[in-house]
Amino acid sequence: MDKNEYTIIDHQYDVLVLGAGGAGLRATLGMCTAGLKTACVTKVFPTRSHTVAAQGGIGAALNNMNDGDDWRFHFYDTIKGSDWLGDQDAIEYMCKNAIPAVVELEHFGVPFSRTDEGRIYQRPFGGHTINQGEGMAKRACAAADRTGHAILHTLYQQCLKHNAEFFIEYFALDLIMGEDGSCKGLLAWCLEDGTIHRFQAHIVVVATGGYGRAFFSCTSAHTCTGDGNAMVLRAGLPLQDMEFIQFHPTGIYGAGCLITEGARGEGGYLTNSTGERFMERYAPNAKDLASRDVVSRAMTIEVLEGRGVGPKKDHILLHLEHLDAKVLHERLPGISETSKIFAGVDVTKEPIPVLPTVHYNMGGIPTNIHGEVVKDASETVVPGLMAIGEAACVSVHGANRLGTNSLLDLIVFGRAAALRAKELITPNTPHVPLSENATEKTLLWFDKLRNANGKTKTSKIRLKLQESMQRHCAVFRSDSILREGIDQINAIGSVMGAIQVNDKSLIWNTDLVEAIELINLYQQSIVTIHSALNRTESRGAHARDDFPDRDDTQWLVHTQSSLTSKGEVKFELRPVHLNTLTNDVTSIPPKKRIY
Ligand code: FUM
Repeated sequence: MDKNEYTIIDHQYDVLVLGAGGAGLRATLGMCTAGLKTACVTKVFPTRSHTVAAQGGIGAALNNMNDGDDWRFHFYDTIKGSDWLGDQDAIEYMCKNAIPAVVELEHFGVPFSRTDEGRIYQRPFGGHTINQGEGMAKRACAAADRTGHAILHTLYQQCLKHNAEFFIEYFALDLIMGEDGSCKGLLAWCLEDGTIHRFQAHIVVVATGGYGRAFFSCTSAHTCTGDGNAMVLRAGLPLQDMEFIQFHPTGIYGAGCLITEGARGEGGYLTNSTGERFMERYAPNAKDLASRDVVSRAMTIEVLEGRGVGPKKDHILLHLEHLDAKVLHERLPGISETSKIFAGVDVTKEPIPVLPTVHYNMGGIPTNIHGEVVKDASETVVPGLMAIGEAACVSVHGANRLGTNSLLDLIVFGRAAALRAKELITPNTPHVPLSENATEKTLLWFDKLRNANGKTKTSKIRLKLQESMQRHCAVFRSDSILREGIDQINAIGSVMGAIQVNDKSLIWNTDLVEAIELINLYQQSIVTIHSALNRTESRGAHARDDFPDRDDTQWLVHTQSSLTSKGEVKFELRPVHLNTLTNDVTSIPPKKRIY
């Protein structure tokens, strides 16, 4: 490596937030208002972060629709939705704090839709009920079907108001870890001018979102490559519950674009090729508003048993045409437009062709409720490192996330991380200088990759990886299909050494960005598929044909998976927290899950 090719610039901050989606911006705002010198580093312009695509709502038991909602019902629904893998203390923290968090968003200026009385409008969503399933709750606080867009823009404006510093279009390469195992900062590459930046910080907060792009068909933006998760793996730390991949029931057939669950919340329903509203058979009470894993499995079974629609009988229909056009116009304008563009469908007249599509990663970087990263079954904190949002696994979603709990997770735990940082750091505490070779290893692999002269294009390897994950880590899994997938992923690993990077420059080198993103996707795919093989039961979104039942005796545990230096996957199991945080609510012992 010719070091003279690189201009290295040093920075020092109290806190560095990596990622400018909902979680990253809420944390950045909290850190700034706590008086901490904070920078937010992001690979895309903040308002282009994937939170912008969140549609249907943010969950909070405000009871604005006078349906008798209560945060304890939200607590119960979230535990049941998680198939009892969620940590109940963390779920209590999230559901209780949901109410002040949403009111705070309203005060920040989020333009929520309104009821006739001027309150925040709330709609029903899958798995959200009143009094443990007595009826469906109206709990999703919505800004039409563009709730993420409204929240993201408001948070960015609030960050600017509080003088947050942004490093925009900087691509993070690796965490800077100290010899004592603590995190010391982050190494990033400025895409605009090609300089390399060593950010020293007392706390680094990873808020880089999920890795949906490891799959062929997903609702995630192309930028969703889980860069933070991969950096954590490269630091020798574990990820948690990576086997749990959420398929959203209603991605547009062929395009994968999201059609919000809020569409079914407003009265939409699914039919098969016989015109049957088949969800009545699978979930007699909640029907089309059962939890996502249940609806996605039902749709997949309908297709597998020959009751799919279309020439290939390979998808399902979502009906909205019976709804009042005024409701569609006011409450679902975004998906009406998306359906027209991507499916050629006028939702006021005809149904939308849909298919379960990868939407969310329940797994991620293990943390406690303060956002602090933990590294083992004893929950030992990694000093200086936090994770929040989809990148993290608190775990509030367990084996299956309820719709609307993602936006909520971003806001509640983004805020929690800032509260914790305020306790841990005295503003402007001096930094111990970094060792000479603190970033040497990362710079070496970056340089090697930039100069890679192999024969295989990134796009070709990426497609193979995405196709393998889609087919072998799907809604239904089995020992043989997972092992076949592992063989394919291993074969992809051997091609990775022959990757071709044509652009050798350092400025706006998207060829190199995509190659690094591919490595990140590949590393997360390895731990995902191995974790799926390892868990010999069915729970939430992890459905094994060969182990169809939930096994609480052996598997009421979180999987922590890390990568050894030889690239092998190492597992540790951590018990689920079945206790609550306070006496405000009683814990819910595991029981059979019926909707
Ligand atoms: O269907 C939706 O609007 C998605 C919401 C979510 O994933 O929380």
